[in-house]
Amino acid sequence: MATTTLTLTRPDDWHLHLRDGAAMADVLPHTARQFARAIVMPNLKPPVTTTAQAVAYRQRILAALPPGLAFEPLMTLYLTDNTSADEIRRAKASGVVHGVKLYPAGATTNSDSGVTDIRRCKVALETMQREDMPLLIHGEVTHAEVDVFDREARFIDEVLIPLRRSFPALRVVLEHITTRAAVQYVTEAEGRIAATITAHHLLYNRNAIFLTPGGRAGVRPHYYCLPVLKREIHRQALLAAATSDNARFFLGTDSAPHPRGEKESACGCAGCFTAATALEMYAMAFEQAGALDRLEAFASFRGADFYRLPRNASRVTLERRDWTVPEELRFGEATVVPLAAGETLPWKLAA
Ligand code: DOR
Ligand code: ZN
Repeated sequence: MATTTLTLTRPDDWHLHLRDGAAMADVLPHTARQFARAIVMPNLKPPVTTTAQAVAYRQRILAALPPGLAFEPLMTLYLTDNTSADEIRRAKASGVVHGVKLYPAGATTNSDSGVTDIRRCKVALETMQREDMPLLIHGEVTHAEVDVFDREARFIDEVLIPLRRSFPALRVVLEHITTRAAVQYVTEAEGRIAATITAHHLLYNRNAIFLTPGGRAGVRPHYYCLPVLKREIHRQALLAAATSDNARFFLGTDSAPHPRGEKESACGCAGCFTAATALEMYAMAFEQAGALDRLEAFASFRGADFYRLPRNASRVTLERRDWTVPEELRFGEATVVPLAAGETLPWKLAA
């Protein structure tokens, strides 16, 4: 008989965009219902570049949490060309900052203040290595001449490998990996490296941006994110990594809400909103791979171990029950369209 319920240690989301203000208050409960903790990305406008800003942002998140939901935001700083050694030491001493995020300038949403040349960050990186503060990486080169689909693989060769040679003891998370090259690199590299994998990169290949599940052609902006969905061979490599027993691969949704109108636009924003459906989508992917028994390690153990935080004690239960993903959800003054809106998912998180 097919499994009808699945109970796991409550998972954590090791890569999440919560935004700020009323929009954050609307998306936060979706994450807090599913996850005990999340690594919260710092790409606000303006970005979270100081410990003081991260502490204040954390307070706003906690203040917006509905009563009865326990959730711990794990804060990050946004690395710039000017991040100082003192700032890294303050971040470490705060106890609430758990990583520093490298966005190559111009790589994605709100990355204009990102790093223009990693060689400018030598002092910050040295201090992070010494203080054992993880570096979280958006791994794409941004040169206009590099094909969008090749940007991750090029980043590994041109930036990541030299960077890790210079800072061999630095703990690194290659975020939201999308290619076979990234899986291979993270599997084979020496030292302290891990990678997060999103549910959408496990479930979809790049056809999803251009075709409906029924095969009808049309641009589907809600499936556009960065790094962009890749070919099927890459999805297969990611699925094999996520469902393997390799502790370097763990869950990070990269749920990245944008107002509906800014996605459905002539220059639509990158980002897929998956916070409301995350575990259900991961369960679907793991089940397709015949590996539901591996979901708990991926979702609930390996990230906590890598970040040196205790594993959660509470549990969540998924039920096998068809349900339809809502067409849209509240997002401050606007709405946000969840990924797979209108589609049927076979697992549902029990209330
Ligand atoms: O698709 C994305 N959206 N990729 C990112 O790296 C950033 C994110 C966002 O903040 O919207
Ligand atoms: Zn992200």
